[in-house]
Amino acid sequence: MVRQLTAADRKRLLAHFIALDDDDRVLRFGQRTADAVIENYVRSIDFSNDAVFGVFNHALKLVGVGHLAYLPVRDDDSPRTAEFGLSVSNEARGAGVGSALFARAAMRSRNSGVGTLYMHCLSHNATMMHIARKAGMDIHRDYGEADAYLTLPPADSASILGEMFQEQAAVFDYAWKRQVRHANKFLESLMPSL
Ligand SMILES: CC(C)(COP(=O)(O)OP(=O)(O)OC[C@H]1O[C@@H](n2cnc3c(N)ncnc32)[C@H](O)[C@@H]1OP(=O)(O)O)[C@@H](O)C(=O)NCCC(=O)NCCS
Repeated sequence: MVRQLTAADRKRLLAHFIALDDDDRVLRFGQRTADAVIENYVRSIDFSNDAVFGVFNHALKLVGVGHLAYLPVRDDDSPRTAEFGLSVSNEARGAGVGSALFARAAMRSRNSGVGTLYMHCLSHNATMMHIARKAGMDIHRDYGEADAYLTLPPADSASILGEMFQEQAAVFDYAWKRQVRHANKFLESLMPSL
C-alpha cells in the first residue's frame, strides 16, 4: 500500500535514507552522498509543491520512498513535467514495492496534469532500467547515465477515482497496522515473559 507522506514524516524519511548504503546512495542521488547532504535534502523537501509517497512494513518502518518533484511551470499552456526518484530498503526489495511506488507516481502525475514523467538513473542500474522498461518508458543512455521518459495521457474519471481509492486503502492499512502494533505492545506489557 502506497501512502502519501507529509512534513510530519520527515524523521522517518531521514531514517530511511540514512540506512541506504554508499552504493544505494549513488544509485538514488547520482553521487556519493554524505549524511549531512541527506539531512539537508530531507529538510528542504517542499511538501506543498511535491508529492512524496511511502510504503510501510508491518512494524510501521518506512521501507520505500518515492519523491515526485514538479518542474517549474512554463508560461504557455503546455503540460507539466515531473521528475521521480525512489528507493526501497534492502530488506524489502524484490517484493514489488519499487514498482508500486512508480505506478502511484505515474497515476498522480497523470491526475495532476503532467504530460511527461522523467527519471534520471545510472545506466548500470539494472533493476531500475527493468522497472522503467516494464512501464513503457522511453530510455536515452549517455555516458553511463540514463534519462527515462513516460508520456502520460490526460486524467479521466477512472484514474482520479482509482487514485482516491488507493490513498484511502493505504490510510486504512496504516491505521490498522498501528492498532495491531499497539495491541501487541499492550499484550507484551501484560505478559513480559512471552
Ligand atoms: C531500484 C529499486 C527502487 C527497486 O525496488 P524493488 O522494490 O526491489 O523493485 P520491485 O520489486 O518492484 O521490482 C524489481 C524488478 O526488477 C527485477 N530485477 C531485480 N534485479 C534485477 C537485475 N539485476 N536486473 C534486471 N532486473 C532485475 C525484478 O525481477 C523485478 O521485476 P518484475 O517486477 O518484472 O518481477 C531498489 O532496488 C533500490 O532502492 N535501489 C537503490 C536506489 C535506486 O536505484 N533508486 C532508483 C534511482 S531513480
